[in-house]
Amino acid sequence: MTEHKVAVVTAAAGAGIGAAITRRLAADGFDVVVTDAHERRCKELADELAGEHGRPFLAIPLDVTDAAAIEQCMNTVVAERGRLDVLVNNAGWSKIEPVAQMSLETWQRCLDVDLTGTFLGMRHALPHMIEAGSGAIVNISSIAAYETTAEHGAAYSAAKAGVNALTRVAAAENGKHGVRVNAITPGLIYNDFLRKIYPDEFFDGYLQDKSKLGRIGQPDDIANLVAFLVSDQAGYITGEVYGVSGGVHPHG
Ligand SMILES: NC(=O)c1ccc[n+]([C@@H]2O[C@H](COP(=O)([O-])OP(=O)(O)OC[C@H]3O[C@@H](n4cnc5c(N)ncnc54)[C@H](O)[C@@H]3O)[C@@H](O)[C@H]2O)c1
Repeated sequence: MTEHKVAVVTAAAGAGIGAAITRRLAADGFDVVVTDAHERRCKELADELAGEHGRPFLAIPLDVTDAAAIEQCMNTVVAERGRLDVLVNNAGWSKIEPVAQMSLETWQRCLDVDLTGTFLGMRHALPHMIEAGSGAIVNISSIAAYETTAEHGAAYSAAKAGVNALTRVAAAENGKHGVRVNAITPGLIYNDFLRKIYPDEFFDGYLQDKSKLGRIGQPDDIANLVAFLVSDQAGYITGEVYGVSGGVHPHG
């Protein structure tokens, strides 16, 4: 068994939140299992972490819409590392189509990645955590869960609202097993991919009209809260959904 606590992060090898969480947990001493649908980037990030920290990191290509692959991933982690302490369900997908024109394919894909992917991650990690009598799960949701505008797309908003509900019920069920489950609802978080697909006006408008702190969120803003929520310092926190939006969407 590895001496380090083991954390699985989904969609870990992108340009945004997942990679920041992965890097932060590795820096905090976790043995992070890098999983992502993109096989090459997944391996590259694990190799990069190994170079930085002088210990091996597991890379497991994983599409969260593949139920069998998720089950196999969690089993492989426990077989290879001997434990599974933390799961961060980070994978998300959206396409903005008005409800009146939305294809069933868009609706289904969004629910599959954002909501069912999060369910499946928990479904196959929880038995290992319950057996160990401890664990911490963080689900990456979105302020879209609360939005009443069309900005994020209805499928995404519905899926993320589902993630929040799923988080609370999973927390209620598993506290007695020593497993804590929380969610984070980020506001706009900068990444190079979003910068390419959204025009300058989108980012300028967000800064001028929305952000209360005069800046756009960074992936590390989310990683900081994940690091706290999976730490022993958060030992009395479960079933909570925390906003990290620079004051754009305070709630509670
Ligand atoms: N970026 C934002 O502004 C923002 C705001 C609110 C919520 N979120 C949520 O934060 C999470 C991370 O978003 P991000 O924009 O930082 O992206 P990210 O960089 O963390 O994730 C992109 C990665 O996801 C991988 N991926 C895509 N589909 C996948 C699938 N089906 N299975 C496994 N991996 C898959 C891609 O290969 C890519 O490497 C998502 O759940 C998103 O909904 C993001």
